Amino acid sequence: MTAIPPDYDCDPGRFLTACGLPQDDVHPYVAARLASTGTRTVVDVGGGNGRLARLLPDLGMRCLLLDISPAMLTEAPRPAVRADGSRLPIADGAVDAVTALYTLYHYDDPRQPVAEARRVLRNGGLFAACAPNRDSSPELAALVPGWGKPSTFDGEDAPAIVASVFGEPGDSVEVDRWDGPLVTLNDLDHAAGFLRVHGLSDEAARAAAATLKLPLALTVRGCVVYAIRADG
Ligand SMILES: C[S@@+](CC[C@H](N)C(=O)[O-])C[C@H]1O[C@@H](n2cnc3c(N)ncnc32)[C@H](O)[C@@H]1O
Repeated sequence: MTAIPPDYDCDPGRFLTACGLPQDDVHPYVAARLASTGTRTVVDVGGGNGRLARLLPDLGMRCLLLDISPAMLTEAPRPAVRADGSRLPIADGAVDAVTALYTLYHYDDPRQPVAEARRVLRNGGLFAACAPNRDSSPELAALVPGWGKPSTFDGEDAPAIVASVFGEPGDSVEVDRWDGPLVTLNDLDHAAGFLRVHGLSDEAARAAAATLKLPLALTVRGCVVYAIRADG
């Protein structure tokens, strides 16, 4: 298993393409879950350009976004600070919630940032992380470079990795899985954008998209893992 090498500073457009695709994602659901548990303060680790952080003020939450990429931080809502998720510049027990969405597969050992998240959570605080499965979107297996190759934090393994850190008496872990035809690539632009996000260059993505029979429903698999630090 290897960590996915970050490209957010050398090719920010690859990831930013994801934000313009006409498809649903986890961010509003995680925001609603945070709000439903009375969360007031959130640290979003590896928050990128703020897809989650932007949703939180309207739900009554204050969010500090942390990211290691200067390019992402220029796109992020404030407050935003450059930091490594393995060493959070935050006191023990200081926040109600920590989120780490689509980011833990960039760490050689994702247990480190998860342990940091647990350290800065107050008792009863909520952690949320998510990742796609390595077998997500099998319809594109032949087109996506390295499809199926394991990373350090795939959806298949994410619950066990989080549970290995949130394992103190009273801690709890819950998994919200998805597995179904949740994304339909309706046209060439959507298909090319989706392939670009999954690692193809603009040119290669358009050429590959042109080989697909559209519309194409993708079997999208992954999970959000929620963990609660013991209240006491
Ligand atoms: C796929 S993006 C996800 C962004 C955001 N969480 C979202 O869901 O849209 C992954 C982010 O993790 C950040 N990242 C990668 N390694 C990191 C590290 N060691 N510490 C902090 N951020 C990191 C990247 O810079 C990037 O912004």
